[in-house]
Amino acid sequence: MSRHSVEIDGIRKAFGALTVLENISFDIHEGEFFSLLGPSGCGKTTLLRLIGGFEPPTSGRLLIDGQPVEGLPPEKRPTNTVFQSYALFPHLTVAENIGYGLRSLNMPKAEQEKVVKESLEMIRLSQLGGRKPHELSGGQRQRVALARALARRPKVLLLDEPLSALDKQLREEMQMELRRIQRQVGITFIFVTHDQEEALALSDRMAVMSAGRVLQIDAPDRIYEAPSSREVAAFIGSMNFFDGVVETIDGQLAHVRSPGKGLLKVNIAGAGGKIAPGVAVTVAVRPEKLSVGPADAAQINSIAGMLASAAYYGDRSHIHMRAADGTTVLVSATNAQRGFRGADRVGSTVVASFRPEDAILLPPTGAWADISHKQPAKEGSRQAA
Ligand SMILES: Nc1ncnc2c1ncn2[C@@H]1O[C@H](COP(=O)(O)OP(=O)(O)O)[C@@H](O)[C@H]1O
Ligand SMILES: [Mg+2]
Repeated sequence: MSRHSVEIDGIRKAFGALTVLENISFDIHEGEFFSLLGPSGCGKTTLLRLIGGFEPPTSGRLLIDGQPVEGLPPEKRPTNTVFQSYALFPHLTVAENIGYGLRSLNMPKAEQEKVVKESLEMIRLSQLGGRKPHELSGGQRQRVALARALARRPKVLLLDEPLSALDKQLREEMQMELRRIQRQVGITFIFVTHDQEEALALSDRMAVMSAGRVLQIDAPDRIYEAPSSREVAAFIGSMNFFDGVVETIDGQLAHVRSPGKGLLKVNIAGAGGKIAPGVAVTVAVRPEKLSVGPADAAQINSIAGMLASAAYYGDRSHIHMRAADGTTVLVSATNAQRGFRGADRVGSTVVASFRPEDAILLPPTGAWADISHKQPAKEGSRQAA
């Protein structure tokens, strides 16, 4: 297993009576691109500020690169931070901005110049070292801020929504740039974002946060394909939830009776052995895992209903089907064959179907098991949840 870069152990943070982070424990591996994802106000920036040393935790322990950092101010930690508003010094050139942090190090001048030159190459701005920040585009300024933060070779780079000020196209460009640079320097990145696509596209692993808690930590595809709770499933992408009760178990398939949806057959893999007849469950199916067809094309897991509306997006259509119990089933149909829009079938009786392996069984509330984010748990270091 790779070494731990950051170990967060039972961290709590309160501002007065307001608890902002509750008993957070997880590890970030060396060289990992790790994202903190969650809605505004869930505590992402606060957690980042604790790691960076801008704020002390109320309780709990924090280790960076194997060392306890309690009481150390930001400049004494092996971290550096790129903030949301990346304030470059307006009167300094690009090269001087990047070299600024090196002055206080005991580094020979020639060495400093070499670092600045390499940094400019890394961000592909070698020709612009003599420019002032106001002579750069937003994306270029952001790259300079990144190079400045990396010049001192921190062990861990903390990034707080660094791309949120950029427009969509520039942002996508910068995302790929960020990933390329992270791979190149091999430094641990802890990246805060409220943009789920950004977190999915960039991260080796990500933590999904809500109201001061960590709900799940996993690789992006696991977060999307195997959410551990209804809360995570609902937060990432869109999801259909069909509530029901397990009727029988047939090998690897649970037969779930869902009011208005009929009998649904779902693979039990991933449900942690908690499935048994009589257990209340939620069957979760992503809209793109469902397909809509004529009512007579009935197959396994066919939910009958009426095609209520279709919104055409060019590459795909979002179809709303009204099921027998009046609830809406959302289907995302790719426009894989020329001419499919879905709109031609509005008002007709259809079925929405999915394969047993494409659905997820979730507990109606919470998660199947109390998941420990620590791996492996160290002797005496875990706190009771
Ligand atoms: N210095 C502070 N004093 C009091 N409350 C704060 C302070 N900093 C953050 N908070 C509160 O902590 C919560 C989490 O904030 P923050 O970490 O900035 O969330 P996020 O970055 O996820 O949007 C919010 O309710 C915010 O108002
Ligand atoms: Mg924030």
